[in-house]
Amino acid sequence: MNLYSIKGLIKEYGVEDSKVRALKEINLSIPSGKFIVVLGASGSGKSTLLNMLGCMDRPTSGTILFENQDITSYHKRQMTKFRKSTIGFVFQSYNLLPDLNAVENVEFSTEMVGLSRQEAVRALELVGLSDRMTHFPAELSGGEQQRVSIARAIAKRPKVLLCDEPTGALDFQTGIMVLEVLKQIHKEQGTSILFITHSQEIAKIADMVIRLRSGEIISVTENSNPLAPSEVEW
Ligand SMILES: Nc1ncnc2c1ncn2[C@@H]1O[C@H](COP(=O)(O)OP(=O)(O)O)[C@@H](O)[C@H]1O
Ligand SMILES: [Mg+2]
Repeated sequence: MNLYSIKGLIKEYGVEDSKVRALKEINLSIPSGKFIVVLGASGSGKSTLLNMLGCMDRPTSGTILFENQDITSYHKRQMTKFRKSTIGFVFQSYNLLPDLNAVENVEFSTEMVGLSRQEAVRALELVGLSDRMTHFPAELSGGEQQRVSIARAIAKRPKVLLCDEPTGALDFQTGIMVLEVLKQIHKEQGTSILFITHSQEIAKIADMVIRLRSGEIISVTENSNPLAPSEVEW
């Protein structure tokens, strides 16, 4: 069974003269358990695609099956439930709450799905922040804040982690560290990861690369020999 099966997916923004077709009839099967990179230039439709996969937004037409369930037919409440139970999101901006420390930031989302503090602690350990639990966002570096946001996303052990350019605001070394953390989560938790980037170099760490151009998929390639993040050059 595929993780996602996408058929005839179209997404348009705006109306009439100002209409933009961000995705132009995409057909795609995404296997589960992979580290997948969605590669494309700015404006190619990467975030739009990720938002549909995460049930953050609905397509104009077409269907997306998640493990054979049509998530495009969901009502708003079902969309919210699906996001909470199944998806972890990581964005370029960390979106941490400034008045909560690291573990409280993670707990803020684990509590919503009924998990204990222990799960929050475990997630922070997994991203290598055991010694930063009680630090506030302002006391953490950019890379550390991003790792807190990854811990927040993975604490509930989502089936899928959707990452929208999470290294976009980080310097080279810090970006590598974040990629290493994601690779480790993929390995240890078996989480399916979809990682958006415009970097051809980062794409080399993926099991599978989906290339987008102007709202169309121009290639899907499997990589039998993914690089370790430490082998990537920026
Ligand atoms: N909310 C929106 N309203 C109108 N146009 C949008 C909106 N979001 C994205 N677009 C347009 O859709 C296209 C794809 O955008 P996006 O998915 O953000 O691309 P990427 O993430 O690859 O940079 C772009 O032309 C963008 O301007
Ligand atoms: Mg984007």
